[in-house]
Formats: sequence, C-alpha cells, structure tokens
Amino acid sequence: MSLLSLEDVHTYYGEAHILQGVSLSVGDGEVVTMIGRNGAGKTTTLLSIMGIARARRGAVRMGGQDITNLETHEIVRRGIGWVPEERRVLPNLTVLENLRLGTMAAPGPDAERRLEEALEYFPRLRERVAQKGRFLSGGEQQMLAIARGLVADPRGRDGSLPPPLRDGPGPHPVRGHPRGAAPGPHDPAALPPALIPLPSGERAG
Ligand SMILES: Nc1ncnc2c1ncn2[C@@H]1O[C@H](COP(=O)(O)OP(=O)(O)OP(=O)(O)O)[C@@H](O)[C@H]1O
Ligand SMILES: [Mg+2]
Repeated sequence: MSLLSLEDVHTYYGEAHILQGVSLSVGDGEVVTMIGRNGAGKTTTLLSIMGIARARRGAVRMGGQDITNLETHEIVRRGIGWVPEERRVLPNLTVLENLRLGTMAAPGPDAERRLEEALEYFPRLRERVAQKGRFLSGGEQQMLAIARGLVADPRGRDGSLPPPLRDGPGPHPVRGHPRGAAPGPHDPAALPPALIPLPSGERAG
C-alpha cells in the first residue's frame, strides 16, 4: 500500500481549474520528485496534499486512509511534513526557537531527540542555535526550514519516516534517515527518484 497517494485530484483557485486530475503515489522509503514548468501546478499539488488548497474532486490518501478533507493541522499530526519554498523562517526567533516551533506539531518525550537529530544533520545550524533567523544566509534558512519539517515528525503509519515534502527547485538535501529505519541505501539522494512530470501551465495531471 502507498504511503501517500493522490487519485484524480482536481483543485481550483476560484473558477480557475488548476489541477485537472493529478494522480501519483509515494511508496515507503521512496523519493518522488515532481517536475514541470513554472505554473504547471507543482506547488498547488503540494498545497492540495496539505489541505491548504482544497481538492474539489478526487482523493488524497495516507496509508490508504482518506485525508482529503482533514484540517491542515490534522494532516500534519498524521505525519506529513512540509518545507515551504519561501522557507518562512521566523526572523525574530533564534534557530532553536524556530525548531521548537516545529516540534510543537508533535510534542512529547521524543521531541528533544528529534531536535538533536536535526542538529546532527545540519551542523551549521548547531553552530547557530542562538542566532536569529534573520541573520541566517539563504542556504542556512533553507536548512532550518528542512530541519523544522523533520522535527515535526513526518512519518508513515507504520512508523517509517519519509523526508518531508519539499516545495521549490533543487534536490532533497537531507542525508540519511533520522531513524535509520528506511529500507534501501542510507542516502535518499542515492535512491532512484520517481519523476512525475506535470505537462503544462494550465493542466496538471
Ligand atoms: N492563489 C492563487 N490564486 C489564483 N491562481 C493561482 C494561485 N496560486 C497559483 N495560481 C495559479 O495556478 C497555476 C499553478 O501554480 P503553482 O504555483 O502550482 O505552479 P508551480 O508548478 O509550483 O510553478 P513554479 O515552478 O513557478 O513554482 C499557475 O497558473 C498560477 O498562476
Ligand atoms: Mg511552485
């Protein structure tokens, strides 16, 4: 069973019919990349998964369960992480405070361990835990956005831990698997990614 799947998803902005039947699936331990020209609907697809842009037709499923109409915070609690393209690092909070905000999506005894793991992945962030977000370089902010997605505890229903969904260009930079439980090579970048092309600016799917 897929960890995450979209079945014939149709999403609109007002009357504009943007996603016209997007279907895809992500298996456990699989890295999936969506490619498509500007305006093709990549971000809208991710927003539809997160319940930020609502799929008007079709279904988004996680571990087979329909999550299409759940509130975004419920979707996050189910284990889908999100790394926004524009990063949205809070400029007046420190690196550590930004990360603690991420852990609030999944509080509990595990949160500190996840935070520690994230700092292990990104030693540059560890060196800058007390630095305010606004003083980070663009790349460092990107690291922080990814680390914040990881500490929110994205996981499959079977307890496996996929990398968070990442919007925007470039390969997924997260090395390894925070729980070491993923099948296959340790480095997700070494996995053959499934490429999902979105064909045009108006139609996606
Ligand atoms: N809030 C919105 N209201 C109306 N139209 C929107 C909105 N957001 C995006 N669109 C339109 O929806 C289409 C898909 O946009 P989307 O942001 O999903 O593309 P994308 O594939 O992520 O593009 P890029 O590669 O430039 O990031 C575009 O035609 C865009 O103009
Ligand atoms: Mg986009």
